[in-house]
Amino acid sequence: MDIDKKVWEVLCSEEDISNRLKELGQEISDVYRDKKLYVVSLLRGSFVFTADLVRKLDIPVKIDFMTTSSYGHGTESSGSVKIVNDIKENLEDYHILVVDDITDSGLTMKYVIEHLKTKNPVSVKCCVLLDKPERRKVEIEPDYVGFTIPDKFVVGYGLNYGDYYRNIPYVFVVTDKDR
Ligand code: IMP
Ligand code: MG
Repeated sequence: MDIDKKVWEVLCSEEDISNRLKELGQEISDVYRDKKLYVVSLLRGSFVFTADLVRKLDIPVKIDFMTTSSYGHGTESSGSVKIVNDIKENLEDYHILVVDDITDSGLTMKYVIEHLKTKNPVSVKCCVLLDKPERRKVEIEPDYVGFTIPDKFVVGYGLNYGDYYRNIPYVFVVTDKDR
């Protein structure tokens, strides 16, 4: 697919995202107040979302990054998840919040949560900017969701297409010009 020959349709504008993140930040701060919170952000897709979300928290938080295998250059998951770079700190005293850009099949989030549970944290929950429930292959319901979206391939705000467009400050869908 040649993205330049497609129509860019904004799905979540900068303003939509900013407003929703304020709400999410407040909700998460209230839940984890007086608890030891550890945000585990999944690279690379969630770096923009994580950076904006953690700045909406008004509680102390530790933040680290994990790298999992991704879609590569296509628009379909390979189906197998690998942890390329793990968290090295002892997580036993912490409440973990896994942050990702999107839950699609759910394979990544389910695998990461199971993996982090083996580190004996106090709790593990997850927060995603976008949720595509129609695409689910495994049973998982993210605890905090920015926006529930239809089954469309989305790009921008950390999400890539062919490794590009992560820097676009809003989320958009690409569609054919003649549609
Ligand atoms: P899942 O394992 O199928 O839930 O997919 C998780 C990962 O696939 C996300 O963290 C994204 O990096 C990538 N992904 C899923 N859907 C999209 C999309 O619509 N656009 C860009 N990346 C996506
Ligand atoms: Mg990802």
